[in-house]
Amino acid sequence: MLEFRKIHKSFQTLHGEQVLFSGLDLSIQKNEFVTMVGNNGAGKSSLFKMIVGDMQPDDGDVLLENQSILSMPTHLKKARIGKVYQDPAAGTVGSMTLLENMALADRKGEHVSLRFAIRKSARARYGELLKDLGLGLENKLDTPMRELSGGQRQTVALVMATMKTPQLLLLDEHTAALDPKTAKLILDKTQALVEEKGIMTIMVTHNLKDALTYGNRLIMLREGKIVEDLKEKAREQFSMEELLAKFYLPVV
Ligand SMILES: Nc1ncnc2c1ncn2[C@@H]1O[C@H](COP(=O)(O)OP(=O)(O)OP(=O)(O)O)[C@@H](O)[C@H]1O
Ligand SMILES: [Mg+2]
Repeated sequence: MLEFRKIHKSFQTLHGEQVLFSGLDLSIQKNEFVTMVGNNGAGKSSLFKMIVGDMQPDDGDVLLENQSILSMPTHLKKARIGKVYQDPAAGTVGSMTLLENMALADRKGEHVSLRFAIRKSARARYGELLKDLGLGLENKLDTPMRELSGGQRQTVALVMATMKTPQLLLLDEHTAALDPKTAKLILDKTQALVEEKGIMTIMVTHNLKDALTYGNRLIMLREGKIVEDLKEKAREQFSMEELLAKFYLPVV
């Protein structure tokens, strides 16, 4: 379970204090694949930053499996949390080959030097994992990541983020930079991987249709508050029109 407990966060700006969260509570269960929507500045990425340790709340706590993660050492957190963000260049190391990137993900959480030996058996295993994607990436194991397309890199980043089955997977607009066909392919792959491995997942998206299509719980955030939280039947019965209307409600 992931829990945000009474989160408060404000920023000092030129126009005075800007309050983002004022006592936000949110619990996400192990079997949940949450899609998260909300206008620009609603606080979606800030929630992710608090989880990974890039932002500290002024007050409140964030717990993963009943353990506070605010002061957890980064290497422990990295082993438990997988993430794929918007920028295809960010999730993988461009100067390293596909094989080397996969090996890095495989050894996540372990202390390794960069000049490690990659066993033949591992090469075969990574090849199989990539073959499943149907993109022919298994034939590009010795290609530097930077020579692959954005879609290919993002797919590899997703496979790498889930390789060691994290307790939590964070996806922040991870298909936003891709063409519609590649985006769909990666979203389908995301759903399949998450279901197969039973990973608790939060996926931020600006695509309302994707938010209703994928996952099993939908949360809408506005100005740091949860304004919609749909599960099971309520989510199934919610239409695109309703979601659009809700999304564009004037801010009061
Ligand atoms: N370090 C910071 N200093 C000042 N303000 C900040 C800081 N980090 C975030 N904010 C503010 O917090 C608010 C929420 O930002 P956040 O990036 O979480 O939004 P978001 O929901 O991810 O938006 P988007 O859809 O544009 O990605 C914004 O108004 C932003 O300007
Ligand atoms: Mg954001």
